[in-house]
Amino acid sequence: MRIISIAGARPNFMKIAPIVAALEQVPEVEHLLVHTGQHYDQEMSDVFFRDLSIPAPDIDLEVGSASHAVQTARIMVEFEKVCEKEQPDMVVVVGDVNSTMACTLVAAKLQIPVAHVEAGLRSFDRTMPEEINRLVTDSLADLLFTTSRDADENLKREGVAPQKIHFVGNVMIDTLLKHRERAASMDVARGLGLDGEDYALMTLHRPSNVDDPSVLTGILQAVQQISRSLPVIFPIHPRTSARIKEFELASLVEGGVRISEPMGYLEFLNLMSKARLVMTDSGGLQEETTFLGVPCLTIRKNTERPVTISEGTNVLVGTDPERLLEAAGQILDGNWKASKVPEYWDGRAAERIVEILTRGS
Ligand code: UD1
Repeated sequence: MRIISIAGARPNFMKIAPIVAALEQVPEVEHLLVHTGQHYDQEMSDVFFRDLSIPAPDIDLEVGSASHAVQTARIMVEFEKVCEKEQPDMVVVVGDVNSTMACTLVAAKLQIPVAHVEAGLRSFDRTMPEEINRLVTDSLADLLFTTSRDADENLKREGVAPQKIHFVGNVMIDTLLKHRERAASMDVARGLGLDGEDYALMTLHRPSNVDDPSVLTGILQAVQQISRSLPVIFPIHPRTSARIKEFELASLVEGGVRISEPMGYLEFLNLMSKARLVMTDSGGLQEETTFLGVPCLTIRKNTERPVTISEGTNVLVGTDPERLLEAAGQILDGNWKASKVPEYWDGRAAERIVEILTRGS
């Protein structure tokens, strides 16, 4: 059985790592890893391969950054050639980035079965490019692996046949569990000038938060205020750093706000595990903080990961600076909700996925 798995952008790497490792344990599987090149910088890509011991990609499509249409089209053109040459029996895609959707479209048209890991998540907000990617990918996939029961329900409501849906848990948590100890032995905060005191950790990169000067200014002003009582570590995504420069907001990320380049997996996991609170607009961080029991303030109006709210440590604060300040104050007062780890977030999701993928092979 020949399987091609796809990784393209930063949030894909921690999801694909345990799947690649599990596939390599199966002698009947011939596995090829394709990197689309959607993310290409050292800090956005290479460091994750190193930190997570992912084997070097067998094929790199080297598509790079571009508009959505151009990037998606480039991936499709290049991945079609790969499929024609390699003739895989199955393509495995993860998450919701442009690479996920582009490779799904190519495989589906060549009648190659597609397995989607992290299927069924819905924000019900089509202004998010990821929501479009999720809808297209899930409507074409043949096997849909989900991280939570609500995702199963979303898929059934959209008419996906129940026998295609498999609730397997969360591969990102497989990776977290595998690397938690190694990350814990580091002291990343000290390297950023913090000497044992509490801190908040923040990430921000969604176009809806960083591309509009008034929204970005409001968020950064609130963060500046929070940083007066709690230092805020802020590794900056390339998109956000470009906008801060363009809108001349550098003065809002000084003082108590400690900015850095984007971080590797282990460094970031170290910081997140020990943070007093996390502020983010990332999807993955909502899940990782829930697993770690760290309070999370999500700077978005909606989430495709509702289990992190109903069971986890996550709260949506939108983009209103007042709500962000109020919620941060509540955490600092020690007043946060109880939480638990969602079902099947137990480190064995990839094992379950590979068992289903290779049934009958
Ligand atoms: C992409 C994903 C998003 C994910 C995010 C994580 C889509 C639609 N979006 O958004 O879901 O949460 O990755 O980071 O797939 N850039 C670099 N170096 C790189 C990559 C990008 O400098 O290695 C810069 C480029 O200027 C680029 C910009 O960042 O134009 C945005 O990159 P892009 O991949 O288009 O989207 P992200 O915002 O990273």
